[in-house]
Amino acid sequence: MFDRFFQQAEERSGDNDVPIDTSNVPKHIAIIMDGNGRWAKKKGLPRIAGHREGMKVIHRIVEKANDLQVKYLTLYAFSTENWKRPKTEVDFLMKLPEQFLDKELPKLKRNNVKVRIMGDESVLPVHTLRAVHKAVDETAANTGLILNFALNYGSRHEIVNMVKQIGEEIESNTLSPADINEKLLTERLLSSGLPDPDLLIRTSGEIRLSNFMLWQLAYSEFWFTNVLWPDFGEEDLEEAIRTYQQRKRRYGGI
Ligand code: FPP
Repeated sequence: MFDRFFQQAEERSGDNDVPIDTSNVPKHIAIIMDGNGRWAKKKGLPRIAGHREGMKVIHRIVEKANDLQVKYLTLYAFSTENWKRPKTEVDFLMKLPEQFLDKELPKLKRNNVKVRIMGDESVLPVHTLRAVHKAVDETAANTGLILNFALNYGSRHEIVNMVKQIGEEIESNTLSPADINEKLLTERLLSSGLPDPDLLIRTSGEIRLSNFMLWQLAYSEFWFTNVLWPDFGEEDLEEAIRTYQQRKRRYGGI
């Protein structure tokens, strides 16, 4: 069944030679970067080798997205559930933002990229936060692509916290239940200030959301590929965008 699903998806994406319609590029692309572990296993390497390789893909995809004038790129780098992994793997994953930014921050700055973080920062290691905040601060004035790292992010956790905060405000009479609407909730989420993703990409053949942006993805187009994240290239991003451009977005209308 899934084979047919992917086959149909490939058919819809059409000819690789069809140029991307620059007037209809998704403004916000969100990516679940999956398959690092399987990539490493296939090569007889430890799982962390897959994450290292996965990190290397990021700079190419950021550059490509920037070239295509994508305005927002959200990358699911670590979920609230990923703490269940062995400590050595978690420790390694927590070092990746520093490694990536040590090398890439000067280029991100030159390319006018603005870095953002979305997640529960309260339990992230100091060294991880230091690296990310440095990048956020030093790119704050940039006006190009917004690169949003979902780090210790979980959509349910995000929603529970938002509801708690709203409950407290109602209790202290600073908010009335009558003021609660979609706009207010959207502004209270960790993605506040970003438009909803137009396109969600998930690599590695898994077809699920894994607690990622449940509210924000309500009307997004989904694109799944069997390609493992460390093998994901610029041409895969282009294919996802071409497929997106063939979709008819109706938002519940006809
Ligand atoms: C999922 O693959 C991937 C992750 C949990 C981590 C993703 C992180 C990166 C790609 C690098 C992050 C870098 C920066 C700069 C933040 P998996 O390990 O679940 O793969 P598997 O399903 O094949 O085991």
